[in-house]
This record gives sequence, C-alpha cells and structure tokens, in this order.
Amino acid sequence: MKHATIIGTGRCLPEQVMTNDDLANIVETSDEWITSRTGIKQRRISTGENTSDLAYKAGLRALERAGLEAEALDLIICATITPDSFMPSVACMVQERLGAKRAAAFDLSAACTGLVFAMTVATSFIENGMFQNILVIGAETLSKAMDWTDRGTCVLFGDGAGAVVLQASEQKQGILSMHMVSDGSKQDYLCLPALPVSNPFVEKRDKEFTPYISMKGQEVFKFAVRTISDLIKNVLAKAELQVEDVKYVVAHQANYRIIEQAAKFAGIPLDKFFINLDRYGNTSAATIGIALDEMNEKEMLKPGDKLILVGFGGGMTSGAVLLEWN
Ligand code: UT7
Repeated sequence: MKHATIIGTGRCLPEQVMTNDDLANIVETSDEWITSRTGIKQRRISTGENTSDLAYKAGLRALERAGLEAEALDLIICATITPDSFMPSVACMVQERLGAKRAAAFDLSAACTGLVFAMTVATSFIENGMFQNILVIGAETLSKAMDWTDRGTCVLFGDGAGAVVLQASEQKQGILSMHMVSDGSKQDYLCLPALPVSNPFVEKRDKEFTPYISMKGQEVFKFAVRTISDLIKNVLAKAELQVEDVKYVVAHQANYRIIEQAAKFAGIPLDKFFINLDRYGNTSAATIGIALDEMNEKEMLKPGDKLILVGFGGGMTSGAVLLEWN
C-alpha cells in the first residue's frame, strides 16, 4: 500500500487587518469581551479578493515549497463553504490559474472540518493507487457571509486560505490514521443558507431568507470540546500510539477556551496545541492549513514528529488525521 505524505504547505491571508477595536466601532462589543470569550484579537478581511484568489495563492505557495510543477498534479480538492459561485467550483478556477492541466478538480463542503475531510479523501485516493500528487486547499471569504450587525457571529470569523500538497510514498510515513464523523441531527447548530426554492410552482416565497451565518454558540462549544478529545483518542488508538508520542495538535482555530477544555479532556498539555486564532480568528476550512504552514515556515516540524490535525464544524461534521512529518 502507498502512503500519503505532506511535501509542501502554503497559506494566503488578505492584507487588511480588522482589530477588536475596529469591530467595536461597528457593533456593540469590546476588545475585552471578544478576547476573554474567544482569545481572538484580530482577523484578516478581504477588500475584494474572493475565495478562489486566496485559494490560488495558497496553492501556488504550497507547490513552490513542495518543488512540484502544477502539471504534476492529479487532483485538486478545495474545501470551502464560501465559494465564488455554485458553478464552476473554486477547485476548477484554481486548476486553470495554476495551469494544472492534468488535474481533476472539485470542491468539498464540510464547513470547518473541510480541510481534514479533504485530506482524508485525498489520502484514500493515494493509498489505493489512483493518484500520486494531490493539492488540498481550505479557503474561505467568510466576510461575505457575515451579518455585520450581529455581534454574536461577526466578531468570530476571518478570511484566508491554507493548502497542503500530498504525495504518494512507498515508506510508512505521512498520514498514519484518520477518522470522519457526521451528525445531521445537529444541522441547526451552524447554518449558512443557499438560494431558497423559488419558481413558478412555488406559491409561498421565503421572506425570511438571509444569506448569513447563524449559530447556536453554546451548543457548538459543547459539541466541539467533546468531539476534539474523542477524535484525538480515536486516531491515537487507530495508529497504536499514546498521547506522549504526539508532538503537536493542530485543532480548528475557533475559540481559545474550546481548545483549552478539549486539551484537558484529552489529557494533552495545552502547550502542545498550536494557536494562531488570536491573529486570524476563525477562517473555517482554512484554519488548519494556515496553522500548518506557519509551523512549517517557523521550522517547528522535524522528521518523525507526530501531529494530530482535528477539526469540527457545521453539519455537524468532525474529523482528525494523525500524521508523521517527513
Ligand atoms: O467553527 C465553529 C464556529 N463556531 C464556534 O466555534 C462557536 C462556539 N461558541 C463560542 O465560541 C461561544 O459560545 C461564543 C464566543 C460564540 C459566545 O460565548 P458565550 O460565553 O457562549 O456567550 P453567550 O452567547 O452566552 O452570550 C453572553 C452574553 C449575552 O448577553 P446577555 O444575554 O447575557 O445580556 C450576549 O448577548 O454576551 C452577549 N454577547 C456579546 N457581548 C459583547 C454576544 N456576543 C457579544 C459580543 N460582544 N460580540
């Protein structure tokens, strides 16, 4: 069996910084409230870049770091809930801009778990021998899906993209175990509506329709804490490894308090969790890829290091991969 290894990472964040004080000028909030409840200090907000622009730049950077030509790619998967359009997919737009002529391309919708689900799908393609080189991107412009009058949501999110290049290897390294979970019975915890059904046969048009993210914050919080610790235990057991074997955990960057409590539940010291949500907020499918690229750039990752990537998000979805850096 082949194994999927990470050979490159990349990220792209819009230049525009929005601080908590900036938000306090728009809605009734404060730096003190946002910092103490979430750990977020600032986020990056698009001044016009769309999801495909951020995805393209993160993907290009990941290819450069991997030293791989775009034409060597077999597949591009873009995880996003804020695509430029329903059709074409962001992945197809990126394929064209990169010149990845041989690559198949599609988007994947699993909200904030998107990158982990996409890496799991990509790993399966590599392990079964179908593909050799796959670009996986998590990219969002959540700022276009925000109700900027709703202080309960607009303070949490930001825009950005993160990417990894996965390559087939004969050696047992890279992704060692993975797990995916979905629970549609909790679909009302996090919602971002698409177009309502409206045609000549529909008598009652939906007047309530709003194209913005809504959320049951406390339900999401409780779900997240439990699911992160359960998933960490799951992928460790599958890989026959112990908590002590893990160098870092890269959890979805939504809220510092979620990570703090999940670390306690999982019995892993908090300092093993990489945190950058203070600078970028929650960029949904992009958070884990952005974090991984920052860690890679800072040369924090050494061959043989074991990492767990763990995400949770709307659906509700959740998933984790355990990997050995090479
Ligand atoms: O990728 C997944 C995305 N979602 C999440 O990760 C969300 C998970 N949940 C959370 O992070 C937390 O539930 C929040 C940070 C969203 C909220 O924290 P909380 O401790 O659950 O606060 P709350 O919703 O219970 O609200 C407490 C108070 C309320 O006022 P009253 O009713 O007590 O007077 C809110 O109206 O805080 C108020 N509030 C705010 N105040 C200032 C809500 N948002 C704000 C705000 N600034 N931005």
